[in-house]
Amino acid sequence: MTDRKLVVIARGLLPAGLDPLRARYRVRVGRPEATREELLELVPGAAALVANPAVPVDAELLDACGPRLEVVANFAVGYDNVDVEACRARGVVITNTPDVLTQATAELALALTLAAARRLSDAERDLRGGRWQGWDPAAYLGIELRGATVGVVGMGRIGSRYAAAMRALGAELIYTGPSAKPEAERELGARRRSLDDLLSAAEIVSLHAPASAATHHLVGARELELIGPEGVLVNTARGSLVDSEALAAALSDGRLGAAGLDVYEEEPEVPAALLAAPRCVLLPHIGSATVAARDAMSRLVADNVTAVLEGREPLNPVA
Ligand code: DGY
Repeated sequence: MTDRKLVVIARGLLPAGLDPLRARYRVRVGRPEATREELLELVPGAAALVANPAVPVDAELLDACGPRLEVVANFAVGYDNVDVEACRARGVVITNTPDVLTQATAELALALTLAAARRLSDAERDLRGGRWQGWDPAAYLGIELRGATVGVVGMGRIGSRYAAAMRALGAELIYTGPSAKPEAERELGARRRSLDDLLSAAEIVSLHAPASAATHHLVGARELELIGPEGVLVNTARGSLVDSEALAAALSDGRLGAAGLDVYEEEPEVPAALLAAPRCVLLPHIGSATVAARDAMSRLVADNVTAVLEGREPLNPVA
């Protein structure tokens, strides 16, 4: 049937979302590694475009979609890859996939915290490289979470879930963000601080703020000095929050204790200085990569697309 609306999936969607879309619409799917040129050729005539953090949705791509475009459904909770103003100007709705990835992403932040605080990457690299000489009383000494002060930058859904896990392990919580979070204060004993106070007081700093002009390089050379040589920085939010050059330099010079990163400024590029930096655990943006989360995200993408294409309110509009 050629009169069915066209849904273009820029770079893949799991069957949990793909199958229901295929049952209702014409669906065109790009390769997971589709280039910009391929995407520009794929999208003309789309009524819905399914994007993800690896797909920049800008005016050029929107114009290539053409006037039938009704919705950009982002397969992620963050939507900094989407030009919100350009969508607004064209009357295109944007949706995202909140909530269903909160647990997966908080768990990954916990895993990165433990891995960085206990130097798991360095230790495993040495073992695999044949450099382990046996039990050593002074090797790979790390930080215990019980009693540590953990600073949560952005006490939203994921930040709060991470904070609860840290609290369960016996950490003391402080947080910073644009508004007070009475629930976190009441239930987790979290205390609100300015960013500088948090960076100075916390042994572990975990970032959970969205990417925006206001959070660009929120953590640079000065902030890394505040975290200090015993401190650990964890970033599962967006790469743009951290000045990666300054971070690599601070790790190399011993001015920062350790770092755990899941996100980078220019993904999938990872700066060579970070790859070479010591005491640094690096993951390839897998925060939401559990079967449960990615299936639920896929379903939510399909539900949002279907709602908009059928003239209903989407479940998760962001603009
Ligand atoms: C998100 O949803 O924003 C995550 O970064 C994707 O894994």
